Amino acid sequence: MSTFQRTKKQTNPVRKNLHPRNRHNQGYDFPALVKSHPALAPHVKPNAYGNLSINFADPLAVKTLNAALLHHYYSILGWDIPEGALCPPIPGRADYIHYVADLPGLENPDIRLLDIGTGANGIYPLLACQIYGWQCVGTDINTQSLENVAEIIAKNPGLKDRLTLRTQQDKNRMFEGIIQTGEFFDVSVCNPPFHASLDEALKGSQLKLNNLARSRGEQKANTQSPTLNFGGLGAELWCKGGEQLFLKKLIKESRGYSTQCRWFTSLISKSDNVKPAKKWIRKLGALDIREIEMRQGNKVTRVLAWTFI
Ligand SMILES: C[S@@+](CC[C@H](N)C(=O)[O-])C[C@H]1O[C@@H](n2cnc3c(N)ncnc32)[C@H](O)[C@@H]1O
Repeated sequence: MSTFQRTKKQTNPVRKNLHPRNRHNQGYDFPALVKSHPALAPHVKPNAYGNLSINFADPLAVKTLNAALLHHYYSILGWDIPEGALCPPIPGRADYIHYVADLPGLENPDIRLLDIGTGANGIYPLLACQIYGWQCVGTDINTQSLENVAEIIAKNPGLKDRLTLRTQQDKNRMFEGIIQTGEFFDVSVCNPPFHASLDEALKGSQLKLNNLARSRGEQKANTQSPTLNFGGLGAELWCKGGEQLFLKKLIKESRGYSTQCRWFTSLISKSDNVKPAKKWIRKLGALDIREIEMRQGNKVTRVLAWTFI
């Protein structure tokens, strides 16, 4: 019997309440993932409950799990990110795309998506291309990040005509210099940098590591200076003014592109930022504002969507 032959215990039942179309609703099927992506095998071991799992505090294990998930469920080959880059939890990122796909007006298959701040991982356009076959544009201020996404595209020839990348030259702008005259997008997505300083970003990551350690029955993560398990090159995770100021700029600028994008959307990590964001959007005269709650077990995140059309 192969080590990874299926038994009841081998599916990790961690993912609950994801969007009904989310392919990760049944948890991680480690035997199937290892079969598609053998590089994952050395990282998969039974956890304290006897279920197959990986060490989520080990950046290499988490990155390899992501590569396996993207390979197995989305046919993306050779996904990789530079050391220290933000390593996105795939089920949650896929949820955002599924909820966005439910917005009115996005029913047809010829959707164009704009991702503000695609990072080195390019996760939103990669998923949107592979799940719904959408045409996507990914932007970032970080050219190194975009070079990495370009490498992923090069390894997946099917993506070449569907995913293009544009550099934002001005870190205070989101749409200017990106949306061209006469161009139209059906939806824009964004996962803003959420911390207000590098120090805050490091503290946040240490907290995450401590929580993971506690869930393994340890008191504290065994590390002084956190190598960030969910990654995050400094600038990916923080910007001056944090999530709130980033959102304010995004919302304000969206008014000027009101006829060139049907739905503007953004992830909001800090619940306190929802109320002011809605107030700014209302002030600009949006015709429809929606707050979409996404649940993963006990964790709740929100997507705010607004339209002027
Ligand atoms: C939290 S990361 C999100 C990365 C990826 N989308 C994800 O969800 O994992 C935020 C990204 O926004 C980028 N960014 C910051 N300011 C930006 C701007 N004005 N325009 C485009 N991207 C920006 C950062 O470089 C970073 O890659």
